[in-house]
Amino acid sequence: MARVYQELEQALPGLSKAVYSQPVDALSAPKVTVRPVTVKGGLCYQIETFRDNKAYHKNVEAEELLLIAENELEGRYRQVLLVSLRESAQYVLRQRGDYKKSSSSPSLPRPGGGESHNRSKEYILREGENIPALVDLGIFTSDFKIVRSRYDKYKQINRFIELVDQELKDYQGREISILDFGCGKSYLTFILYYYFAVKRGLEAKIIGYDLKADVVENCNRIAEKYGYDKLRFQHADVSRDVLSQEHIDMVVTLHACDTATDFALDYALRHGVKYIFSVPCCQHEINSSIHKGGELDILLQHGIIRERVCALLTDSIRTAVLQSRGYEPDVIEFIDLEHSPKNIMLRARYTGKERRKSLEQALELKEKYGFAQKLLELQYPEECAGKKPL
Ligand SMILES: C[S@@+](CC[C@H](N)C(=O)[O-])C[C@H]1O[C@@H](n2cnc3c(N)ncnc32)[C@H](O)[C@@H]1O
Repeated sequence: MARVYQELEQALPGLSKAVYSQPVDALSAPKVTVRPVTVKGGLCYQIETFRDNKAYHKNVEAEELLLIAENELEGRYRQVLLVSLRESAQYVLRQRGDYKKSSSSPSLPRPGGGESHNRSKEYILREGENIPALVDLGIFTSDFKIVRSRYDKYKQINRFIELVDQELKDYQGREISILDFGCGKSYLTFILYYYFAVKRGLEAKIIGYDLKADVVENCNRIAEKYGYDKLRFQHADVSRDVLSQEHIDMVVTLHACDTATDFALDYALRHGVKYIFSVPCCQHEINSSIHKGGELDILLQHGIIRERVCALLTDSIRTAVLQSRGYEPDVIEFIDLEHSPKNIMLRARYTGKERRKSLEQALELKEKYGFAQKLLELQYPEECAGKKPL
């Protein structure tokens, strides 16, 4: 790879955005963003520079933009993102002074654009797409083919992103902040970052939390390797450690074990997080605490049935709690059973409309069958202890 300003020139007729970030010296502005604007009916480009938390704007024509890109920006920023009609591409400055294309993907069709037919039939992350972090994570081979044994994982993360994409298609913000609870090896976390930061060109800040220190360390190493500066992983127990106190737009969980999902949902409810995408697993809590007590006893007699009923009851109660706190949840089949037996996603968006009918039923069942359910207890401790009526 040679020079980014030459790539910018190629992208210009259909440029939707260019972002220069991570300056090499303290004198350069921390970030420079270029966007097309129409001034007096003509196309030009707005250069937005941030200094001391203030944004400064300058409108220039294509020729001047290229001069500025070549003489003032080239080599001064470690990372450049170019989003054009054709593709989104990320470039990283090498030690010898030129840039290397670190990842690229065909641009997503915009909402209402003419190319959007048949989107749902295509994977958002296509085989062959230049996503190097997926190579490090063992999902893609070095020539971006799917590693056959990881095909189920590839399908899962694609489906997850597809469901996120459906929900946030019209998201207008320039930034998005996300927490991933129980991120593990973080296939999903990397892909979320890639989807928002590279494909959609947003300022994406993502933190993945996990109990395993060595896994967290490895994920941070990969994020640094690809210049994903706003993607970080933290060693944390989400059931007791202090987590992010910043504004968060989205909480995700993918197979976070047992009650780790409840702590994630509880965090989202307490911090006014707008979007929740949660695929639970290992819902053991109710199964290990429920006793017989009434009409449902027939469902509790045989191990396999009991286990499935308790898992479904767990997610039904979680959904009821979300509704009671002003969320609109969808319960979606996440993936075909052949790819994962843990195949329900709770997808919820905050609307402010609180509905408590199902919550009343959940509390009645809890009292009658004596089970523990973490989210219910975290959100309604006094009602669960019988100290306060709903
Ligand atoms: C089944 S793995 C899923 C990993 C990843 N989300 C995925 O789908 O590939 C569950 C992860 O949750 C983590 N976990 C479980 N309980 C946790 C807790 N209390 N705090 C933080 N992480 C937790 C585990 O360490 C494990 O890595």
